[in-house]
Amino acid sequence: MLKRVGAILLATGVLLLAGCGPKTPTVNESMTKVMAPGAQTIWDITSKAFNAKGDGLEASKISAADWAQLESAGRQLHDRALVLATAKHVKATAKGETIMGEEASGAPSKIGHDWDAASAQGVQAMIDADPALFAKRARILAEAGDTVVKAAPARDVRALYSVSSNLDEVCDGCHQKFWGTDEPPPFPK
Ligand code: HEC
Repeated sequence: MLKRVGAILLATGVLLLAGCGPKTPTVNESMTKVMAPGAQTIWDITSKAFNAKGDGLEASKISAADWAQLESAGRQLHDRALVLATAKHVKATAKGETIMGEEASGAPSKIGHDWDAASAQGVQAMIDADPALFAKRARILAEAGDTVVKAAPARDVRALYSVSSNLDEVCDGCHQKFWGTDEPPPFPK
C-alpha cells in the first residue's frame, strides 16, 4: 500500500515537474521584454551624455540615478543572454507570441496566416541548425551587459561607451544569422 502511494506521489511529482517546472523563456519574450528595453535604457542615457566632439561620453552628464539604471539594464541583458546561451533547447516562440514582421504581408486571413507559421518556424529552424553559434552570440551580449554592470560602480564612461557604441552590432550579429532580417518574407503561396 505504502509502495503504491509512493508510486502515485512520484508520478504526480514527475508530472508537476514536467508541467510546471521553470521554463526557459523564449527568444521572443526575451527580445521584447528584456533585450529591447534594456538596450533602450543604455542608448537613451548614453545619447544624452556625448561629449562636445561626439566621440565619447562626459562623466558629468551621467547622474547617480542614471548609473543605477544602467547597472540594472546591463544586469538584465547579461542574465537573460546567459539563460539563452546555456539553455538545453532554445525556443523561438511560445503559443500566442508573434514574431515582428509576421504581419508584414499585411494580408488578413489565409496569406497572413501562412507566413506567420513560416516565420516562427523559420527562426526556430535557423536556431536548431546552429545552436552553438546562437549560444556564442548570446554570450557576446552577456559580456556586453556585464561590462556595463562593472562600469557602473566605477563610473567608467570609457567602458560604458565601448558597449553603447557597439551594442547595435552585438544585436545585429545574432539577428542577421537567426532572424534573417536581410531576407524578404517568403512569397505567399
Ligand atoms: C543570441 C541571439 C540574439 C541576440 C544577441 C539578440 N537577439 Fe534580438 N532576436 C533574436 C532572434 C532569433 C529574433 C527573431 C525572433 C523574434 O522576433 O522573436 C530576435 C528579434 C528581436 C526583436 C523583435 C521581437 C519581435 O517582436 O518579434 C527585437 C526588438 C530584438 N530582437 C531586440 C534585440 C536587441 C535590442 C538586442 C541587443 C541588445 C538583441 N535583440 C540581441 C536573437 C538575438
